[in-house]
Amino acid sequence: MNDPEAYRCVEPSSAPTRRNGEPKLDEGGVTQPPRLMIPGPIDLEPEVLEALAGQVIPHYGDAWVTAYRHVRQNLLTIGESEGDAFVLAGSGIVGIDAAIGTAVPTGGHLIVVDNGFFSGRMCEVADGYGITTHVLRTERGKPVRPDELAAFMQTHPEAQVVGVTHGETSTGVLNDLEALGNVVAEADRLLIVDAVSTFGAARVAVDAWGIGICCTASQKALESPPGAAPVIVNRTAWDFLDSSGADNHGLYSDLRVWRHYATEMSEFHPQPATMPVNVIAALTVATDRILAEGLDQRYRHHRKTAARVRRRAQAAGYEPLAADEWASPTVTALRPPTGLAANDVVAAVRERANIQLGSGIAELAGQVFRVGHMGLSATDAYLDDLFGVLESLSNTQECAAS
Ligand SMILES: Cc1ncc(COP(=O)(O)O)c(C=O)c1O
Repeated sequence: MNDPEAYRCVEPSSAPTRRNGEPKLDEGGVTQPPRLMIPGPIDLEPEVLEALAGQVIPHYGDAWVTAYRHVRQNLLTIGESEGDAFVLAGSGIVGIDAAIGTAVPTGGHLIVVDNGFFSGRMCEVADGYGITTHVLRTERGKPVRPDELAAFMQTHPEAQVVGVTHGETSTGVLNDLEALGNVVAEADRLLIVDAVSTFGAARVAVDAWGIGICCTASQKALESPPGAAPVIVNRTAWDFLDSSGADNHGLYSDLRVWRHYATEMSEFHPQPATMPVNVIAALTVATDRILAEGLDQRYRHHRKTAARVRRRAQAAGYEPLAADEWASPTVTALRPPTGLAANDVVAAVRERANIQLGSGIAELAGQVFRVGHMGLSATDAYLDDLFGVLESLSNTQECAAS
């Protein structure tokens, strides 16, 4: 089991001296929430927040059927798929739980590519179902090579399902999903992808890349509030899922149940349970905005932003954990310059700029801090304020050392 302590956020307990009107109090004396540059959830555009605040509609009937169809189509367009999209209520892990629970029976086998804390969670899901995992662990900060995965699959013929995380949020590494999809397809296995931290900011071509099930979450690059876990099932995956033998894994986490409602109840109640209709309304507005921006343009913007973050950080003495070739477009894990502690950087940025960063988790706790750059946090306004503090911290450090 991953250590629950790994989730603990660093609070700026030893807060540096007050600067520039900190702490942030508005006229009523209420503390302003920090701007979020954690790797999700992220700050949201006003239009998305307005959708969230609308009056509740029922999760059935004509209005809902139309609304749900719309968001599902948006998700399929972003995922370049002609398969089936479902939106499970919950956080990203709910979708991953459903994917594994539908594809692998108790007593079955699953290969997990473990690039870090989040990809490792697939093992925890599998443990809960009584599935045996075969873990291909990569060095932290490195992706998995397609040939490594091909060789690993050969040594584990009993595992017909492979779990890969596209962007590992604890290290800022992006796996080459297209190449991995090819080797998994060649080995005739089912590929489950965790695209929680990438979907919407990096290309995920579900059908063309041979992804069987693609899982994501609303609160990161989809620029929506937390609470929805979109899952796309490739049409070609249904034969596998129908004969997987995983028939005793509950109701909500069975994607075949979602398909049943989506087809048999399509005109009235196209899902098995009550839906978080307001979260989905916000997701609809956010995905409309993403599509209006244009996917290629959006992917280019996030790639360029990640490159700028890395260049500017390096110029100020911070070292990205992941190399440029496999850098995530949405999150960068940075080692601070010698003499600066990662957790102190997180605390200082919160104190001086009222920006919240992510701290290092699991084995990287205390070694790195993490910058999320998607949606609003990928804009100059956020990045300039962040780098104002990062640069001043490292300058002060240099002065002290000289
Ligand atoms: C890559 C990845 N997978 C899975 C998760 C789990 O998502 P959630 O917390 O929405 O359940 C996260 C969360 O940050 C993530 O970054």
